Amino acid sequence: MTGRPAPSTPSPASQPLSDDYFHDMYAVADDPWGFTERWYERRKYALTLASLSSERYRRAFEPGCSIGVLSAELALCADHLVCMDLSPRATEFARRRLARHSDHVEVLTGNVVVDWPDGEFDLIVLSEILYYLTPTQLDDLVRRLPRSLSPDGEVVAVHWRHTVSEYPQSGDDVHDRLLDSDLVHSAGYRDADLRLDLFGRESRGSVAQREDLVG
Ligand SMILES: C[S@@+](CC[C@H](N)C(=O)[O-])C[C@H]1O[C@@H](n2cnc3c(N)ncnc32)[C@H](O)[C@@H]1O
Repeated sequence: MTGRPAPSTPSPASQPLSDDYFHDMYAVADDPWGFTERWYERRKYALTLASLSSERYRRAFEPGCSIGVLSAELALCADHLVCMDLSPRATEFARRRLARHSDHVEVLTGNVVVDWPDGEFDLIVLSEILYYLTPTQLDDLVRRLPRSLSPDGEVVAVHWRHTVSEYPQSGDDVHDRLLDSDLVHSAGYRDADLRLDLFGRESRGSVAQREDLVG
């Protein structure tokens, strides 16, 4: 996909991408990945939103929110939404895009590795962020997920599957790690471009079961 960074020198898996990697991308482009334009992105958002098993969430968290394109959709189905990105320029754009939702949306500038917010969420959206972490950082985050989720909470993860040599890990690496965690896997989708998986702290039953449609 042409909007993705061109592969260059591989980054060793033990090294995270530097914050400057992202600062430099936002310094030269308002929407470096083409979130507002590309069909790949719009389709990814549609798949992500359609996969959610609840119609509404009380408190949602979206780390790596970038300029807030998916956040604007999540704002419609969450009573409270916390968005975070390490790029101040990205969060400035996100704040502008989400201004009409400012009564229930917080946009924080921070690094999810050290600034993960306190409290429980009933939705955590991990959209194209986990492969920027080293395996050790990912392990810490995966261990934190059950503690950050309410008992009825849901995690949705979605990642690009093609190789980007700068990234410490691949999309398949991070989904395999999530599948190997204490979380309960409830649904999944994969094609040549992306992988999407849903998890909970415990099994919640299907949508039809929760709506008493199944005898
Ligand atoms: C490919 S974009 C994904 C944006 C959005 N989640 C989506 O799918 O449309 C990745 C974003 O994650 C942010 N990011 C990367 N590592 C991060 C970290 N450790 N903490 C917070 N944000 C991070 C980058 O600045 C970038 O805006």
